[in-house]
Amino acid sequence: MYRLIYVSKAAESLREDDIENILHVSQSNNDERYLTGFLAQNNRAFMQALEGERREVLDIYDRIKSDDRHSGVLQIIGEPIEKRAFPDWTMNYHRVDDKDGSSTMVLRQDDAVDALLNPEMPRDLLYLFSKFLRMR
Ligand SMILES: Cc1cc2nc3c(=O)[nH]c(=O)nc-3n(C[C@H](O)[C@H](O)[C@H](O)COP(=O)(O)O)c2cc1C
Repeated sequence: MYRLIYVSKAAESLREDDIENILHVSQSNNDERYLTGFLAQNNRAFMQALEGERREVLDIYDRIKSDDRHSGVLQIIGEPIEKRAFPDWTMNYHRVDDKDGSSTMVLRQDDAVDALLNPEMPRDLLYLFSKFLRMR
């Protein structure tokens, strides 16, 4: 198995509907390909982890890279893994927004924060995602 993590920048035109659409499509596509992962959004930045069979991960990443709802897609990690870090999620979503100085959190599932802090999760990933979500 393989895990890939990238960062990117949301298109200026990206709206709430687009996110709903991305998550909807991801949930069925990823389920079919037994891909799991996590999509974090901090204001206009995305960080996504994709894990599964190497070929499936690379295929979907190719598609994602050419999606014009984001740009500047940059892979930061690509590594063989023995165990999934997000076994229960076809694609969970966690967003922090910082409008007018106040921060809001939008969670796809109620238990997302707890699960993000899942002690089973590799330390480096936990560090990476929590750092990313706290970036200002
Ligand atoms: C930030 C971001 C994350 C995405 N994540 C996934 C994903 O995990 N799985 C997926 O199937 N599509 C994902 N997509 C959507 C794909 O780019 C693509 O639109 C979708 O797979 C449908 O592809 P198709 O039109 O070739 O069938 C994502 C798009 C964006 C912008």
